[in-house]
Formats: sequence, C-alpha cells, structure tokens
Amino acid sequence: MKDAQPRTIYLKDYQAPDYWIDTTHLTFDLHEDYALVTSVLQMRLNGEKEFESGTLPALTLHGEELDLVSLHRDGEELEGDQYQLAKGTLIVSVKQPTFELQVVTRIRPQENTSLEGLYKSNGMFCTQCEAEGFRKITYYLDRPDVMSVFTTKVIASQARYPVLLANGNAIDKGELENDRHYVTWEDPFKKPSYLFALVAGDLECIEDRFTTMSGRDVTLKIFTESHNIHKCDHAMVSLKKSMRWDEEVYGREYDLDIFMIVAVDHFNMGAMENKGLNIFNSSCVLASPETATDATYQRIEAIVAHEYFHNWSGNRVTCRDWFQLSLKEGFTVFRDAEFSADMNSRGVKRIQDASLLRTAQFAEDAGPMAHPIRPESFIEISNFYTLTVYEKGCEVVRMIHTILGAGQFRKGTDLYFDRHDGEAATCEDFVKAMEDASGVDLTQFRHWYSQAGTPVMTVTDKYDAESGDYHLTIAQSCPATPGQEQKKPFHIPVGIALLDEQGQLLPLNAAGDKEQVLSIKQSEETFVVKGCKSKPLPSLLRNFSAPVRVRYDYSKDDLVFLMKHDTDSFNRWDACQRLGVAAIEQLVEQPQQAVDPQLVDAFGAVIADAAMDKAVKAEMLCLPSEASLAEQADVIQPLAIVAARKKVKQAIAVAHKDALQALYNELNHERVYKPEAADIAERTLKNVCLGYLSAVNEAECVQLAAKQYDDASNMTDRRAALGCVIDAHYRDEALVERLLTDFYDRYKGNSNVMDDWFAVQSSSAELGTVEKVKALMQHDSFDSTSPNKLRSLIGGFTRNMTHFHTAGGTGYEFLADRVIELDKQNPQVASRIMTPLTRWKKFEPVTSGLMKNALERIKAVHNLSTDVYEVVNKSL
Ligand code: PHE
Ligand code: ZN
Repeated sequence: MKDAQPRTIYLKDYQAPDYWIDTTHLTFDLHEDYALVTSVLQMRLNGEKEFESGTLPALTLHGEELDLVSLHRDGEELEGDQYQLAKGTLIVSVKQPTFELQVVTRIRPQENTSLEGLYKSNGMFCTQCEAEGFRKITYYLDRPDVMSVFTTKVIASQARYPVLLANGNAIDKGELENDRHYVTWEDPFKKPSYLFALVAGDLECIEDRFTTMSGRDVTLKIFTESHNIHKCDHAMVSLKKSMRWDEEVYGREYDLDIFMIVAVDHFNMGAMENKGLNIFNSSCVLASPETATDATYQRIEAIVAHEYFHNWSGNRVTCRDWFQLSLKEGFTVFRDAEFSADMNSRGVKRIQDASLLRTAQFAEDAGPMAHPIRPESFIEISNFYTLTVYEKGCEVVRMIHTILGAGQFRKGTDLYFDRHDGEAATCEDFVKAMEDASGVDLTQFRHWYSQAGTPVMTVTDKYDAESGDYHLTIAQSCPATPGQEQKKPFHIPVGIALLDEQGQLLPLNAAGDKEQVLSIKQSEETFVVKGCKSKPLPSLLRNFSAPVRVRYDYSKDDLVFLMKHDTDSFNRWDACQRLGVAAIEQLVEQPQQAVDPQLVDAFGAVIADAAMDKAVKAEMLCLPSEASLAEQADVIQPLAIVAARKKVKQAIAVAHKDALQALYNELNHERVYKPEAADIAERTLKNVCLGYLSAVNEAECVQLAAKQYDDASNMTDRRAALGCVIDAHYRDEALVERLLTDFYDRYKGNSNVMDDWFAVQSSSAELGTVEKVKALMQHDSFDSTSPNKLRSLIGGFTRNMTHFHTAGGTGYEFLADRVIELDKQNPQVASRIMTPLTRWKKFEPVTSGLMKNALERIKAVHNLSTDVYEVVNKSL
C-alpha cells in the first residue's frame, strides 16, 4: 500500500543522488510494543552534480510507515516549515553543503507482517532491508548507490534478548538500568542501506574459525533458537568450504574479523547477504539426517555459498540501482553453481539447473511479466527477484565464461573487482571489465542484457555423400515480448559435436577438435565439416551452452542413439527428455493409444546400464515433469498431461518391474548417513526405482514403500517412501492415513519438516483437493503468517496440476481469495503466490477463462499493494 497510484520507474531516468551520507550512526531502543530509532547522518552535497548556483537542493529521504518523533539539522530542531512529509518521503530544507541530520522515528516491529524492515519472528527481532526495506526503519536515502559507514547500537532487555547483533565488529557493550543492555557494532566497509542488518534474541550459536589465505583469523558463528542448535553443523561445513573455494577460484578473501549467520523462521526469501551478518530462512540452514533430505542438504550448501560469495559480488561491489540487480545475482548464482558443481556431481548440477531454467524461466519469458535480465522499468522492484534475473542472469555470465575461457574470465573478474571495489556498479561495468581484460568484443553479446524472451535456434543439416561435406545451418529468432516486438540477433555460443555411425565423435576441423563452441551471431549461419564418411548425427548445445530452445528434427532412433553414445551428460539426458516429451505429447493428443514401445525399451536400457554414472542415471530415469510438459505445450491441457505422463510411467514400471526391483535391492543397504555425492547418487537412484515400482498396481509394491518408510534411518528415504505410498497406483488409503499420521507425530515439533507435511498433501494428485487444503489451513501446525507454510500449502496446491485445475475453477477462486487476503498482510508473498494464474493465456479456452476471472476479481480490489497491482495489471 505504498502509493495510492503506483508509478512506473524507468532505468533511463536514473540520476545520481543530490547528497551522500558519509557516516550513519544508528541507535535502536527495542521495546515490547515499539522501537525507537535514532539516526545521525553526516550529509554531504554531491559535488559532481550541477545545481543552480547559490542554491542547495532540498534533501528528499525515503520513509514508509514511520512516526517521525524529532528532526534536527546541525543540532537545531526543525519545525514544520523546514520539512515536509509527503507519501513515502521526508523533504528537508538544506542550508550548508555538509551537515548533520538527526532523525528519530518510532516503529512497530511487532505489527510488521510484511517481513520487510524490522520485524519479529518467534520472539526475536530481525531485519530484512533488500530491496527497499530500510525505509521502514528510518528516513534515509534508501538506494544502493548511496554507500555509508554504519555504526549500530542495539539496546534491549537483557533477559529477553541476550544476543544483540548488527553488521561488522562489536566495539562496545554494557549494562543499563532496568535490566537492559546494549552492544555497539561498527562496520568499517561502506555499504548501501539494503545490506544493513540487526538481530536481537535469545539465541545460541555454534562457533568455528577460518584462516584466510593471507593468514587472518576469522570467527564464524551460526545462531539459532536453542532447540535447533544441533542442526547447524552442515551449514558451518558449507561455509568453510565456500570461503576456501572463493579464495582458490576467484582469489577473494573474507574481510571482517567475524562472519555470522542467523536462522529465522519467518522470512520472505531464502537468505540475505547483509554485510558480516547473513540472515537465513531457517529452512536453508538447519539440517540433520533425520529431518533433512539430500536435496535440502545440497540446497543449504548452495545457499550458504551464495550468500557468502555476495560479500564480493554484491557487497564490496554493489549495484548502482535495482535495474542492475542481475549484476550481483546472476554473477553470484553462477559462482554458487560452479561451487556446487565442484563439490558434487558436475553433470547432475548442470542438468538440474538447465531443467529449472527451461521449465520455469522459459515460462516466465513467455508470460506477461517477461523482462530482460536488466529490466528497463518496474513498478515494484520486489517483483523482479525472478528466475530471469537470477537464473537466466547466471546463464549470461556462464556464456561469457564459455566465450572467454576460464583464464580470461578470471582476468575479467579480477579487473572488475579491482576497478569497482567500494563502488556501486552497473551490468555495463561488468561486461566492460570482461572485454578490457580479454580483448574479446562483446558488443553484440550485450543484447542478452537488454532483450527479453527465449531465443529459438532452428537447426537443419545436409550431407553430401560424394564430397563428404556436412552442412549444419543454425537459424535464430526470438519471439516478441511485452514492449519488445522486434529483436536483434544474439551472440550465442553453441557447443557442438558430431557422432558417426559407431557413436564416435568426429573431428570437426583440421586441428582435429572433436568438440567446438561455435559463436553464432547472424540470424542464419552455416558451418561445414569436411571428410565425413556417412551422415553424422549432431549433438547440439552441449552442456546447455546457451539459454535457448533448440529445434532439430531428431528421429526417435536418433534420440535413442544419443542417449547411448553422446559423451555430453547433459545431452544424453536431454535426448531422454525429448523422447519422453514426444511419447507423452502423443498420448495427450490420443489418450487411447499404447505407450511408445521404443521409449519403454530405451528406459529399460538405461535401467540395465550398470556402467552409467548413478547420479546421471537417476536424472535420466525421471520423466519430464508436468510443469515442463506444460511449458512445452502450445495449449496446456492440464488433466490430459497428468493422465498421459502417468500412463507412460506405469508402462515403464510394468515392463521393467524385475529390473527395477533388482536395482532397488542392490542399492538398498544400510549405512551411516552422509550427504556426500556418491551416497546421494545411490539414494536418489534407489528412490527413483521405488517411485516406478509404486506405479505398478500391486499390493506388494506399496508394501515395499511402506517398509522403507518404517525402516528408514534418514529423512531422504522416509520422505521418498511417503511420497510413493501417497501416489501409489495400488490404493491403500488406510496405509496412507497411517503414514501421514506417523509422519506428523514424529516431526510435529519441527517447523521445517511440517512445511513438507503440508506440501506433500496439497501437491498430491490423490489427496490435494481444494477442500483438503482448506481443512489444512485450519490445522494447529499451520501458521498463516509464515511464508514457508504458505508456500508449502498454497504454493504446493498451485503446482498440483490435477486439483488446482479441476473443472469449475474452484482452485482459481481459492487462490484469488488467498491473494486478496494475503495482500494486506504480506504483499511480496501474495504477489509471488499468484504467478500460476498469470499464465492463463496458455491454457485451453474454458480453463483459461476461469483463470482470467480469478485475476479480474483480484484486480477489482481497492488499495492493492504495488506488488500485486503490477502483476495483476500486466497479466490481464
Ligand atoms: N539478495 C538475496 C539473495 O539472493 C535474496 C533476497 C532478496 C532476500 C530480497 C530477501 C529479500 O541472496
Ligand atoms: Zn543473491
């Protein structure tokens, strides 16, 4: 409810600020029903800007939901005629080019349900300031190009809040009257307000140390509520690995004497990179073998790394404005992806990332909110923490890495960090540093920053038996997106290889290279490979070398051949996916047909392939998800997709039951849980087998899953088995009930596991009806103020293709009600959770109309937040 009339902000309107804030002294006096914030700012006119001679521009500070208690300029209390409060701003008249401003505000963290600014989670105080949350704490120049040195004094009750934290190093502490105490923190590094953080609570911590490459000793602490303190070790191990990796791979050393992580339950996102004091969603920190799955362990490792890496890519070098968000996010996602690849299976990491991109980011790029990784305009910046900015942004950085090569890329990052340390930079600065360091011209490459939409690469080929010449023609185009009708050709790095009839890679050039990265720059280009004895089969876009769609007319035989022989694990997996998509799409059109026998055989060959890497094998055996099938469909028919996919899965399961059972048995052995790549691969593959077996309509198959559930010694196996029983072909409702109750009884004290208990039900094709979801909202363990709970229960339901899209549109109406209700409480979550509705245009007409009705009902609500306002208006 920021503005009565939401305003669009444009990149082209960017202007440097009129004033800088050299130092910021904050004092927080925290009480049970309010907090008093005193801010003392040393202000300085921006001398690089030109002003009308003899006048000093008024200072316009941002501020929202604040009570102004007092205002002093150079010690003088200002009266009403010397300042002005207008929507979201405080305008102060200025007399001197440098001056001190003291602002005292009163805020109510206890009533802050938006989880932006200062708020309370489970009795502790915490902050979230990115992107524009600091203005809910005090009046300030809340923009990332204003960087200041912060000192923060936190005062609170000693008994209730024994731990008081802020950014930097603790420089003073003491006791006060009335059982109150204080700690003062000083952060020597200049930073923008969005990186400010404060925590006050009754917390415990685990402590460790790290010696940096130059020999400095750093204290590492992870804080959580005492009952979770034994679940922080994995995060600590991950942190130390990240610190070492960033030194080894990027030459980046940590810069403060202490690094802290705090886990909180109520958090809008995954985690936040505040300088020296990262605040995490507890779901991205806490793990024990009994309560966290392998996927959770890996997610924690990746997010701890991501936030740590931001210390350089985001904090030391920050963003000039929020249009440059991908400068820090795309680059940091690339850094964490490479870290995870080094720590785990590189091939599988690539498959998972490409799969997420193609499923969810491609859908975003094809929807009403499509935007370039550097958007040109927005109404609400919170809506632009997107898969495009993060994941496609990462792919853009990866393409630079591919084009330059690892060595030149590292020279580029060194130059970038060197040049811009302590500054607020732009995407252009990043690309320029890459160009300057490598000498490679990236002029055309820059279109990736300014053009939205997913390019389509159409590949055709021709073989001349007489000359032995093979011609590969690559054409590119990019569909129109909102505000961008015409696109210029992209510079696309395309990894290719050619396979001969034996499945061997052919030399592509005189040098004998068997793999090559082509630089495609024209709308159509042809490459000729000489000396081919027969028509080769192309392996295209190897390792998913660019975020594009590839169209090439592979026959089913071609795909089966690639699955067997391609040396690129991404492309082997992709061939398998293509085969799966074709088989399922065929059944969507003609549901009575038999399942493609070639697909069933091909999957049998994968199951039987004992030599294949287990992690890759597990990925290959996963049929394309419902979401990915929906993304690839021209017109989405949700129930037909669900039915077709299920039929294919059952056919594979029935045909290969014995082999699946044998593989399951081979992998199903007891051992001490370790979240390590080799073990994870075995568990994943085993549980994929169990998933197929439970698609066989036999009681003994469900019993097998039930046994795994009961015997499980870790959450990975128990959770997988639960999912299998719930969705099993052979229905045993009493068993489903028993396991759900058992799961609840075992884990009801663990909020993060309860999230999953809600999600497993709401997302289930068997259980997740609207009625069920409504009933679960009334459950004691549900908490409507928790974004995690909302994402699990409501978000889980919106991913439930069966029930969310059930005829009559009751699912859409339910979601619209939740969005309207939530918008008053937490606009960021409201706006995110409605994403599935915004894709209405892709559905078959009846469904589509019902989705649109639900959106229109949201649009009609008065006083929508800027968050929901922007999404609903752009979608209709
Ligand atoms: N900057 C955080 C990250 O990517 C994400 C975030 C954005 C968290 C906004 C909270 C609010 O690491
Ligand atoms: Zn980030």
